[in-house]
Amino acid sequence: MASTHSSDMQEYTLLMSAAPEDGMQDEIELKSRKHTEQQHSPRFLMLLSVLITLVAIGAAAAFHLSVLSDDEPLLTPKEITSSFRMALPSPNLEKGRDIMMKKKYKLPEMIFPTYITRVNAAVPDTVYESGHSVILSPTDSMIYHWMTNSPWQMCYISGFVSPSELLVAGNKSYRSEGDLSAIEIWNVTTPANTGTLTALSWNTRPARISLLGTVNFTSVEAQRRTLQLDGQELRPPTPRFHCLGETEITVEVACKACHLEFEQVFSTPPLGFELLQLA
Ligand SMILES: *[C@@H]1O[C@H](CO)[C@@H](O)[C@H](O)[C@H]1NC(C)=O
Ligand SMILES: *[C@@H]1O[C@H](CO)[C@@H](O)[C@H](O)[C@H]1NC(C)=O
Ligand SMILES: *[C@@H]1O[C@H](CO)[C@@H](O)[C@H](O)[C@H]1NC(C)=O
Repeated sequence: MASTHSSDMQEYTLLMSAAPEDGMQDEIELKSRKHTEQQHSPRFLMLLSVLITLVAIGAAAAFHLSVLSDDEPLLTPKEITSSFRMALPSPNLEKGRDIMMKKKYKLPEMIFPTYITRVNAAVPDTVYESGHSVILSPTDSMIYHWMTNSPWQMCYISGFVSPSELLVAGNKSYRSEGDLSAIEIWNVTTPANTGTLTALSWNTRPARISLLGTVNFTSVEAQRRTLQLDGQELRPPTPRFHCLGETEITVEVACKACHLEFEQVFSTPPLGFELLQLA
């Protein structure tokens, strides 16, 4: 019986060195020979059975390890995950997951801006009121302001253009000229009284702090088909920033080499510059 195990051992040399097993086997035989010369004492029999048991356990362990190390997993990753108790790093994560399951969200949550106000360098004292009309040109920028109470850690700002059939069905459209693939998003100062953002001129616009990044104002559908753009929101230069809890952000959207006009209306399908909370 012990020799059967011993020969099985040879298959698992990578997992368990054969040398100690052989040594153990030798030891058993050695002791066995030595003891046959004398009488088999109960102590010897006990020692022998302990050693044989150890060999058997070793063999079983080696077999078990080899099964685990096999290329084919016994359980699929999903089965393994579902058989474990879920460790929840944050209750909000669970809440977010529940909401996503319930509403079948495939996208991060989109937050509509509080204010959208035009500023025009060509007429620097002209005051524009906040509204829905978005105009970008080499002289026109839009000041966007968002307020959110996010259950999630990270946010980013995106130019979100729904697929064209959906836009047509939703009576939405945009007019554009030039390169829309790198529209600048600048972090600007948020005034102490955000009410001042309802009416701004070029001369009273909030000061630029830093360029957060650029966004590609082309159909999400086309972007999803472009494989190298997969997960682009997760990579620089698209802005991604901490936004857990109450967050306010004001940005200037600018485009040096394009003209873009549309109405940003709070309805589906989305069209415009959006704050997205990354689940
Ligand atoms: C479609 O949008 C245009 C302007 O964006 C508006 O004048 C028109 O009334 C809208 N039509 C419908 C059916 O909503
Ligand atoms: C924008 O600038 C303000 C003021 O410096 C800073 O507190 C905030 O974190 C910046 N926002 C981003 C998204 O970088
Ligand atoms: C912008 O998106 C389009 C797909 O709509 C893609 O072909 C193009 O390469 C993108 N440009 C940049 C700068 O990411």
